[in-house]
Amino acid sequence: MHKKCVLVTGGEGFIGKYTVQELLNNNFDVIIADRKKEFQNTKAKYYRLDVATDELSKVFENNKIDFIIHLAALPSVSESIRKPLQDCHDNYQATVNVCSYARKYNVKKIIFSSTAAVYANPEYLPVDEKHPTSFLSPYAITKNASENFIKYCGINYIIFRYANVYGKGQDATGEAGVVAKFFELMSDNLPLKIHGTGNQYRDFINVKDVAKVNVLGLLTNTNNEIINVSTNTKTTINELFEILKQELGYTQPPEYTNPRIGDIEKSVLDNNKLIKMLGYTPQIDIKNGIKEMVKSKIKA
Ligand SMILES: NC(=O)c1ccc[n+]([C@@H]2O[C@H](COP(=O)([O-])OP(=O)(O)OC[C@H]3O[C@@H](n4cnc5c(N)ncnc54)[C@H](O)[C@@H]3O)[C@@H](O)[C@H]2O)c1
Repeated sequence: MHKKCVLVTGGEGFIGKYTVQELLNNNFDVIIADRKKEFQNTKAKYYRLDVATDELSKVFENNKIDFIIHLAALPSVSESIRKPLQDCHDNYQATVNVCSYARKYNVKKIIFSSTAAVYANPEYLPVDEKHPTSFLSPYAITKNASENFIKYCGINYIIFRYANVYGKGQDATGEAGVVAKFFELMSDNLPLKIHGTGNQYRDFINVKDVAKVNVLGLLTNTNNEIINVSTNTKTTINELFEILKQELGYTQPPEYTNPRIGDIEKSVLDNNKLIKMLGYTPQIDIKNGIKEMVKSKIKA
C-alpha cells in the first residue's frame, strides 16, 4: 500500500526529532522543513528553508503531502517579548503560510502544536479546553491567532495544547525549559537561580509522550478538536529542584530571585479529553522521566 507522507515543520527541533522518529516507526514517509543547518535523520527527506516564506512551495511542488505536523515556531515567552516581530514571523506568519499551502495542495489534516500559554493565568485548575484564552506574552497572542487561522482555513485539524514539555535533547542554552536548564547546571554542580518563591507550579509532560500523541493525532478519525496534552499533575519548581537534587547528587542551595515577567504562576492541564478522544494516557511521570535523563547522561 502507498505510504502516507507527512511534512514535519520544525522537524529538527526538540519535539520534532522525537515526532519524526515516531512517524518513521509507524511507517510514514517523512519530510522535514526546518531552517536549522544540521540534519541527522537519514531516513527522512530534508528541506532547509524558512516555512514562513514562499521557499516552502518547493516542498509541495516536489512531493505529495498527505498530512502536516506543524511544529516550527519561536517557542519562547521571553524571546517573544524581546523580539515580537520575529515571534510574529515564526509563529503566526509561518502558520498562515503552512495552512495556505496545505489548502492549495489538498492536505488531509494538520496537527498544530499550541501551548498552555494561551490560558494565561488560569481562572480555575485543572484547565480544560473550554477555559477562556488570554495572554501574558506575544507568544500566547500569536499561538492563539495561529489556532484561529487553522480553524478558519477549513482543513481538518487537531490543535494540541502542550503543557511543559521536557526530555533528553532539549536545548539548555538561551531560553530553555526549566528542566533542561536545571538539569545542565545541576549535573555540573553549578549555582542555580529560582525565579520567585519556587512554589509556582507546572504540568511537565515527557517529550516521548508528546511525540506519540502527535502521531496518534494523524491516526485517529477525530478531527477539528482542541486537545490538551498534559499529565494533569502539578509539580512545583521547588519539587522539581528536589527531584533533580536527589537524582544528580547536587549539593548547593538555590538562589531565589525576582519572578519573571510573562511567566504563568500556576498551570495544570486537564487531560480527560486526550484520554477519551485519543485513548491515550501519558506514560512517563516526572520522576521516571528525570531518572531516564540521568541514566542516558551516564551512558553517553
Ligand atoms: N517545548 C515546550 O515545552 C513546548 C510547550 C508548548 C508548545 N510547544 C510548541 O511545540 C513546538 C516545538 O517546540 P520545541 O520545543 O521542539 O522547539 P524547538 O525550538 O526545539 O524547535 C522548533 C524548530 O522550528 C524551527 N523553526 C522555527 N522557525 C522556523 C521557520 N520560520 N522556518 C523553518 N524552521 C523554523 C527551528 O529551527 C527549530 O528546529 C513549537 O511550536 C512550540 O511552540 C513547545
